[in-house]
Amino acid sequence: MTHQKAVEPFLIGPTIDLDCLIQEDRVHGSLYTNDALFEQEMQQIFYGGWVFVGHDSEIPSAGQFQRRTIGREEVIMVRQKDQSIAVLSNRCAHRGNMMCVDKSGKTKFLTCPYHGWVYGLDGKLLDVPYPGGFPKSKEGIGLKSLRTEAYRGFVFATFNDATGPLGDHLGKAKVLIDRACDMSPVGKIKLTSGWVKQRFDANWKMLPENDTDGYHVNYVHSSFARVIDSHYNAAVIATEESLVSQTKDWGNGHTELFFSPSYKRYFEWLGVKEDRYPEYERQMKEAYGEEKADRILRDGPPHAAIFPNLFLGEMNIVIFEPINARQCVQWHTAMLLEGVPDEVNQRILRQSEAALGPSAFLLADDSVISERQQLAMRDRADWLDISRGMNREVVDEDGVITGHVTDECTNRGFWRHYKKVMQQPLPLQHQSSSAVVCSE
Ligand code: FES
Ligand SMILES: [Fe+2]
Repeated sequence: MTHQKAVEPFLIGPTIDLDCLIQEDRVHGSLYTNDALFEQEMQQIFYGGWVFVGHDSEIPSAGQFQRRTIGREEVIMVRQKDQSIAVLSNRCAHRGNMMCVDKSGKTKFLTCPYHGWVYGLDGKLLDVPYPGGFPKSKEGIGLKSLRTEAYRGFVFATFNDATGPLGDHLGKAKVLIDRACDMSPVGKIKLTSGWVKQRFDANWKMLPENDTDGYHVNYVHSSFARVIDSHYNAAVIATEESLVSQTKDWGNGHTELFFSPSYKRYFEWLGVKEDRYPEYERQMKEAYGEEKADRILRDGPPHAAIFPNLFLGEMNIVIFEPINARQCVQWHTAMLLEGVPDEVNQRILRQSEAALGPSAFLLADDSVISERQQLAMRDRADWLDISRGMNREVVDEDGVITGHVTDECTNRGFWRHYKKVMQQPLPLQHQSSSAVVCSE
């Protein structure tokens, strides 16, 4: 054994020793409970790197906006007059009030409810009531505009001007977003059915880890498996020998449960017969050609976590919102497809409600198991074993690591990247949220 680095108690004292706390085959439970570590995650992961904010289909016309969070910061994703998308700080440059209170809407200007300062859609300050009293010009003042990039309509933003481009962060996992978008004959998804939010009394990291954990399904979701004959039976609930689905570590913390090898016919992933949607099938073959359409309709959408806060949950899109070390909020909505017959989107919506809706099977099971894990570790946490399948991983020529669907390949991939990001030098503009700093 190489990990006998006996250090404890790990998180008490001035430094957090991540080399000790995160090892290849085990991680320490205090990573889910420690408040100082959570503060560091906000700075390093949520303010230091790219974070998913929303989808461009949510704000199709100029002036439309959605209120979101990045870490614990309030932001507004807003469509500009030139059709580009800006992500602005939702905090007035005067005395810091919340600019936008509505969850979504459409506007020509952003007006602060406190003293009426008016900003353009790009965040530039346009008007100040009773301007005579200010000793200095307000020229050049505005709402902070975050660096914003989109990939196939998925909008990401970062507070860190020094981090690399979004494409570097997504890396090889771009193919996961491609696979989601290519479910549509016009290559576009739309998030127009509204979001459901659910609060978990669990650390945010349990969500991405659990969503690409294929080991728990047979146990946590056993009641679901008993009453519903779903595609999960073949994909992830069977004997160890007969399962052909896989876990995949795509690098940069992006992980997947790759169910496609277990699907034998069209639309298994949608829980309908293969001849159910002939028009959709025709559209796909016309758009992509026989061979590629055949593969898409059989393989279905990805089941993958994009680091740190996005889950491509087959025909659902999920956002993980951290609240504190012991609480997070999961947002979810159906991933509808552009250009398909309405009946296909109706089916997607019903399937989404049944999987993740307020009275659904899967989400309730997962939330309970995460909350129990948090409770069990709340005080004297100990080591957690993530070694399953280390002896049978396969690395391909692109560096993608593949394991058996019940292996902890995905957990290891998540933690490997987490440690790297958490040990990077802090971006200058976000040295600490707890310190009171003075900067121009
Ligand atoms: S805080 Fe916004 S105008 Fe005063
Ligand atoms: Fe689950």
